[in-house]
Amino acid sequence: MPLSSRGLYLNKSFLGRSRPGSRRNWSSAISSRDDYFITTPIFYVNSSPHIGHLYTSLLADAAQRFQRLLCKKDVLFMTGTDEHGSKIQQAAANFKTEPIDYCDKISSEYKDLFKEFGVDYSHFIRTTNKNHINAVHHFWNQLLARGHIYKGQYSGWYCTADEAFLTDTQLTEVTNPDGTKVKVSAESGRPVEWTEETNYKFKLSSMQDDLLHWLKDERVVYPDKFHKQLVGWVKEGSCLQDVSVSRPISRVRWGVPVPGSTDQTVYVWLDALVSYLTAAGYPDLCSWPPTRQILGKDILNERNITHRFHGVYWPAFLIGAGLEPPSSLVVHSHWTVDDEKMSKTLGNVVSPVVAAKDFSAAGLRYFLLREGTLHSDANYSNEKVLRKLNAELADTLGNLLNRCTGKTVNANQHFPAFNPEHYKQYCEKEASGLVESLQRIPDLVGEHYGNFNYYKGVDVIISCLHEANKFFETNQPWKLRKSADCADHLNCVLHVTMETLRVCGIALQPIVPQIAQPLLDKLSIPLAERSWDDMRRLSVNETTSLLSDNVVLYKRVLANK
Ligand code: MSP
Repeated sequence: MPLSSRGLYLNKSFLGRSRPGSRRNWSSAISSRDDYFITTPIFYVNSSPHIGHLYTSLLADAAQRFQRLLCKKDVLFMTGTDEHGSKIQQAAANFKTEPIDYCDKISSEYKDLFKEFGVDYSHFIRTTNKNHINAVHHFWNQLLARGHIYKGQYSGWYCTADEAFLTDTQLTEVTNPDGTKVKVSAESGRPVEWTEETNYKFKLSSMQDDLLHWLKDERVVYPDKFHKQLVGWVKEGSCLQDVSVSRPISRVRWGVPVPGSTDQTVYVWLDALVSYLTAAGYPDLCSWPPTRQILGKDILNERNITHRFHGVYWPAFLIGAGLEPPSSLVVHSHWTVDDEKMSKTLGNVVSPVVAAKDFSAAGLRYFLLREGTLHSDANYSNEKVLRKLNAELADTLGNLLNRCTGKTVNANQHFPAFNPEHYKQYCEKEASGLVESLQRIPDLVGEHYGNFNYYKGVDVIISCLHEANKFFETNQPWKLRKSADCADHLNCVLHVTMETLRVCGIALQPIVPQIAQPLLDKLSIPLAERSWDDMRRLSVNETTSLLSDNVVLYKRVLANK
């Protein structure tokens, strides 16, 4: 079921809908949902950001920008960095730095990345921040007080790389070159060792009914494909064994200490998931649950993945703490590179900062949102990026702006007012299809954006721009400008073309603000007239002057990059 048919865009009542009755008392701290609260996963600082990380953030950023254009008040956009655990401890040791210095460095790389790519967050949570540590302590104490955490002797196969104890079904055996057999994690292929220790466990095994009850509402996981998968896993039940939620400090020193314990740190995933609550001001929640939580399929419930973090742990922990479980997990697929999984081992990890040197930050942002889909993996290749950006941003959008604002056809450097009589006389026949397409943009593109189908929204916009380029050419304005008798016809052609650019410019703001803004500036569209509803008002009725600056929306990229 598409999100918007439930009312994100078309029927706002979805935001304030009441949750179906529940066995446990899920307390909702929210009385009204006039706000919009969106989250990204928090990013591991064990390596620098790649295009997959950027993509997750862009999905959320485009959504919050779209909400702001819809004039939604109180838009909260949370992101951040996940800084605890033995992997980070190890990464810092490899760099011969203290963990916190290492975390500071990578965390600021993320901040720089977000600045460069226009990811305009309102809250950046670092799990090493004091307010977050307090939130984890409070949350832990709630789980303990409600009887969901117990202390016990534990023995099992532990995988350091996965930072988890694995069950038999999560193990596989491989044969070494010398013929000996060893057990490894089926997910990561990394070795496991038999470990006996004392730690705290969360009673996940008692949560099946609650999880199935939560999942009854199919809107909680989107798209449907992921909801169905998750229901299957939870019904089957093997992912619901009690989960260890602390580690001995001797093994994981770099973590949040378990309250009241001197020898245990909190399991990194429990620590990390609480970051969403930290952003909402927990324990004094101002907004809960988030309206949308974006995440990649690997951290929901994918087959063969050891842990079903957001699909199982997250709702279970929240229900355990007496809080409302997630209301909308929006799951996306992955980026592959030249049709292979992106991995350090294959050496094919694409750094957005490096790619932006060739294609610009705006270009890369556009490409990722234009090509990525929630339901299936998308493939990155330099040739594809180059072709797409040149064809759409340079040759279609940029070219149309140059054509109608160039001094050859637009000697007065103006955006002519709409004149209904001239329109009827000179343009109606050729422009009516285009105008109808423009009139459909607010609802149609709005619906696609509301459902996180950005690629479909951009398709609609680009095809309007193609129609407008055709319309412009058919009218041959370079001939019209030569005769004073054709001035009305010329103005009419310029008006229709610029209206197309105005509407498309407004609709492109969530996708590529770095290009939409100079486009709207060039057309002298006031800042106060760039909201989603401003697209519905076709036809400016006053002639305005264009901005005198020369604007190049997107510079063609040369093929040998
Ligand atoms: N730290 C955890 C999340 C904790 S949230 C409480 C984590 N971090 S991550 O840095 O590994 O991943 C962050 C996001 O990047 C996830 O949504 C993940 O799906 C996404 N991506 C990582 N690789 C990706 C691709 N190749 N393609 C698209 N997104 C992918 O998991």
